Amino acid sequence: MSTAIITGGSRGFGHALTAALARDGWTVIATGRDTQALDSALALDPTRVITIRGDVRDPAHHRELVSAAERAGGLDLLVHNASTLGPSPLPAVAKLTPEELTRIFDVNVVAPLALTNLVLPLLRASAQPTLVALSSDAAVEAYEGWGGYGSSKAALDHLMAVLAAEEPALAVYAFDPGDMRTAMHQNAFPGEDISDRPEPATVVPVLLDLLRERPASGRYQAADRARVPA
Ligand SMILES: NC(=O)c1ccc[n+]([C@@H]2O[C@H](COP(=O)([O-])OP(=O)(O)OC[C@H]3O[C@@H](n4cnc5c(N)ncnc54)[C@H](OP(=O)(O)O)[C@@H]3O)[C@@H](O)[C@H]2O)c1
Repeated sequence: MSTAIITGGSRGFGHALTAALARDGWTVIATGRDTQALDSALALDPTRVITIRGDVRDPAHHRELVSAAERAGGLDLLVHNASTLGPSPLPAVAKLTPEELTRIFDVNVVAPLALTNLVLPLLRASAQPTLVALSSDAAVEAYEGWGGYGSSKAALDHLMAVLAAEEPALAVYAFDPGDMRTAMHQNAFPGEDISDRPEPATVVPVLLDLLRERPASGRYQAADRARVPA
C-alpha cells in the first residue's frame, strides 16, 4: 500500500488529487488550515484519507505529518500543493512590498524546503519515492502582476531541479497544471467570470499518468501531457 502527503489537500487541485489517490487505494495525508474544508476531504474516504490541520509554515505541523506517515507505514509521495498567490488584486512589482514577498516565499518556497528535508529519510526508504511541486506558467513567463507569485514558483522549480540532481533515486517533478477553476485562480482574477477554466479534477489524471509512468525528473506541463480522448 502506498502513502502520500498532499499539502493543501483540503481544496482545489489538492482535494481532487486526494480523491483520486484514495480511489486508487493510496493512504492520503491531506493538510490545510480550514477545518470545514478538511472535513470535506476526510469525507471522501475516512478509511484512506487522514487529515491534519495546520499551516504549512509550522515546524510542529511538519513533525505531525512525519508521525502520521510513520504510523501509516512509510511515505512514497510528497506533493507540495499548498500555495499562496499573495495580495489580490495582483500588484505590479513596483508596488509589491518586501513583507508581502517574504510571506509568499515563506509559504511557497521555504515551507516546502523544510518539509522536504524532514520527510527525506522516509521517502528514501520507499521503493518508488516521488516528490511533486505544483508549479505555474507564471514561473517561466513574465506576466504583469505575477512577479511575487511567479518568482516564488521559479525558485521552487529550481530547488526541486537541484534536489533531483542530488537525489537520483527520487523522481522529482515540478508540475504545471495550467489554469483551473479554483479559489486561488478566482483571487487572481477578482470579479471575473472564470467558469471557462477547467475543473481541477480534469487535470488530476495527467498527474496520475506521470506518477505511473515515472519519467525522468524534471518540469512537466499538464497541457503538453494531456490525454487525447479516444
Ligand atoms: N488554479 C490555478 O489556475 C493554478 C494554476 C497554476 C498552478 N496552480 C498551483 O496549483 C496548486 C493548487 O492551487 P489551487 O488553485 O487548487 O489553490 P486553492 O484552491 O486556493 O487551494 C489551496 C490549498 O492550499 C491550502 N493552503 C494555502 N495556504 C496554506 C498554508 N499557509 N498552510 C496550509 N495550507 C495552505 C488551502 O487550504 P487552507 O486555505 O484552508 O489552508 C487549500 O487546501 C498551487 O500550488 C497553485 O500555485 C494553480
